[in-house]
Amino acid sequence: MSETPNAIDAITAAKPSPGEQHFPKFAVTDNLVEAAQKLVARYPEGKEQSAVLPIIHMVQEKFGYICPEAMPWIAEMCKSTPIHVAGIVTFYPGIHTMCPGKYHFRVCRTIACSLSGGEELIPYICQKIGVNPADMSDEEPMLVSADGLWSVEPVECLANCGFGPNIMLNETLYSQVTTKTIDELIAKYSK
Ligand code: FES
Repeated sequence: MSETPNAIDAITAAKPSPGEQHFPKFAVTDNLVEAAQKLVARYPEGKEQSAVLPIIHMVQEKFGYICPEAMPWIAEMCKSTPIHVAGIVTFYPGIHTMCPGKYHFRVCRTIACSLSGGEELIPYICQKIGVNPADMSDEEPMLVSADGLWSVEPVECLANCGFGPNIMLNETLYSQVTTKTIDELIAKYSK
């Protein structure tokens, strides 16, 4: 991968992001710069690059995902390079290069949850939100509903193995989940 803007564009190329309508569009504001500077200030001079991950998390929390425009800005804030930021963004599965839905299901697919009934949850959620599980790929496992309201993503262990199957809806963990739980959550947040 060469260090050009095209390399970053390629990361997000052809990824439909209907969820964007439910998140603010990435924009560099004084508040955003100030928040990033505070994160950078946690690290000693010369180690500003250590703030890349905290700033990535902040940007994802505010804007839903790391869009191509955000990467050069994050690099600038941390005295890093866009390609370094892009490398981190693409390394961690929890960092998104595609905007999730307003309500994002993370479904544990690790063995304890799979064996306790989790295996059926992903196809069930897909059917409920109108996406095709066959469209999931290792490269982009997230699927987003056409209205951008819902998305689903398989994830590894959520560290609650004794109470599976486990899922997260946005930042909330749900245990011993059944298809009925999914129905209830979708009904609750569809209103
Ligand atoms: S295996 Fe699902 S939480 Fe650990």
